[in-house]
Amino acid sequence: MNINIRKVLSSDRDAIISIVNRNGNFTDEEKDCAKELLDIYLGNPEQKDYNFFCAVDKGEKVIGYICYGRIPLTEGAYDLYWIVVDPLYQGKGIGKVLVNRLESVLKDIGARMLLAETSSKPDYYKTKIFYERNGFTEIARIKDFYKIGDDKMIYRKEVS
Ligand SMILES: CC(C)(COP(=O)(O)OP(=O)(O)OC[C@H]1O[C@@H](n2cnc3c(N)ncnc32)[C@H](O)[C@@H]1OP(=O)(O)O)[C@@H](O)C(=O)NCCC(=O)NCCS
Repeated sequence: MNINIRKVLSSDRDAIISIVNRNGNFTDEEKDCAKELLDIYLGNPEQKDYNFFCAVDKGEKVIGYICYGRIPLTEGAYDLYWIVVDPLYQGKGIGKVLVNRLESVLKDIGARMLLAETSSKPDYYKTKIFYERNGFTEIARIKDFYKIGDDKMIYRKEVS
């Protein structure tokens, strides 16, 4: 697919919120969290905690985005806070392009590692496969973290 990667702009807000809302595996609280981070990014250009870029099609329609930031108190450890692709465009390689771009951005700034967290719920099985296919390794699991029977899985990808 012919896509372009660029920084997220204020004019992308509605499209990104729509992509988040249409993803069936997010709870309302998770959707609110995704929107909160977007508004921190859009509302305060000086902040460096949350960075966003997105994939757009030839018509400049946003079809996926990534949110990442340096983990406070670390040297060169970054968190992939959110990666979401429009459900209509999933499985077409857009997530892979977003992760590859993030890795190249992180290499340029001397980052060491990228972490991603996900849930062990069956709803997130596709996400788990996605991380594994993209060079992430499960390095830790906190049993019953989100709720009883729902573990937090932590994935790591070396940036070098
Ligand atoms: C996870 C997500 C970002 C992946 O993006 P995507 O554009 O669909 O993924 P890609 O098409 O780039 O797939 C990359 C790899 O994952 C695998 N994959 C993607 N969708 C898959 C599916 N439905 N079943 C099995 N594997 C799948 C592909 O096989 C591919 O590997 P390959 O290139 O070796 O074949 C996307 O599915 C999504 O937005 N999911 C819902 C939101 C979410 O859970 N985000 C993560 C937590 S914030």
